[in-house]
Amino acid sequence: MQLSLSARELLTTTRAVRKRLDITRPVEREVIEECVAIAQQAPTSSNTENQHFVIVTDPIKKSAPAELFRRGWETYVNLPKPASKIKFEDPERNGTQSRVASSAEYLRDHLQEVPVHVIPCIAARTEGMPTVMQSEAWGSIAPAVWSFMLADRSFGLGTSWTILHLFYEQEAASILNIPFKEVMQVALIPVGYTKGIHFKSVPREPVSKIVHWNGW
Ligand SMILES: Cc1cc2nc3c(=O)[nH]c(=O)nc-3n(C[C@H](O)[C@H](O)[C@H](O)COP(=O)(O)O)c2cc1C
Repeated sequence: MQLSLSARELLTTTRAVRKRLDITRPVEREVIEECVAIAQQAPTSSNTENQHFVIVTDPIKKSAPAELFRRGWETYVNLPKPASKIKFEDPERNGTQSRVASSAEYLRDHLQEVPVHVIPCIAARTEGMPTVMQSEAWGSIAPAVWSFMLADRSFGLGTSWTILHLFYEQEAASILNIPFKEVMQVALIPVGYTKGIHFKSVPREPVSKIVHWNGW
């Protein structure tokens, strides 16, 4: 079923969905493929169309990236300064961060139960590359991933951009037969129908804080 959302609603209410994923409801293959087809309309550098989407639904295959994700979580939280532990001056913002952390912990513990794992990849590797080449690679896949997530929302599906399995990208590549030397995984997007279809836009920093007219 397609939701009737305006472009503005779609763009402002596509949240990271974790606790509200319905892990009991299967997701149809054709809906996932339709979302990928929509995502393919996103731009790629020189129109190279070098994006790939590895889609994992097999329960045994899903448990391996989920395990790598949990290992990645441990690695991340033991970094000297993980971004998730940043404290803000605004107590409300700190409250939001605690809710995000609790939601992320839920996903960590239930990742293998989420019906579909989508691993977007780009046929490039950026290790040691100058910024321009890194931008070419990431810029050729990030817009498609966000389009994929927006398309999912339009079909009543929830997603969340996750990255922690990438601490062990090479292991994930060998489990999923991804040619590691030529192809870089950029995320792991869990996909499932949402419990309820209403999501809100959230407060963000004032635009004036991030906009720099005519120079920084
Ligand atoms: C690059 C990136 C990496 C992220 N990694 C994770 C992750 O590993 N685990 C997770 O649960 N959420 C992850 N998120 C989701 C963010 O926590 C989430 O988007 C953020 O808290 C804002 O919430 P909202 O998207 O609902 O507004 C990631 C998001 C981005 C853009």
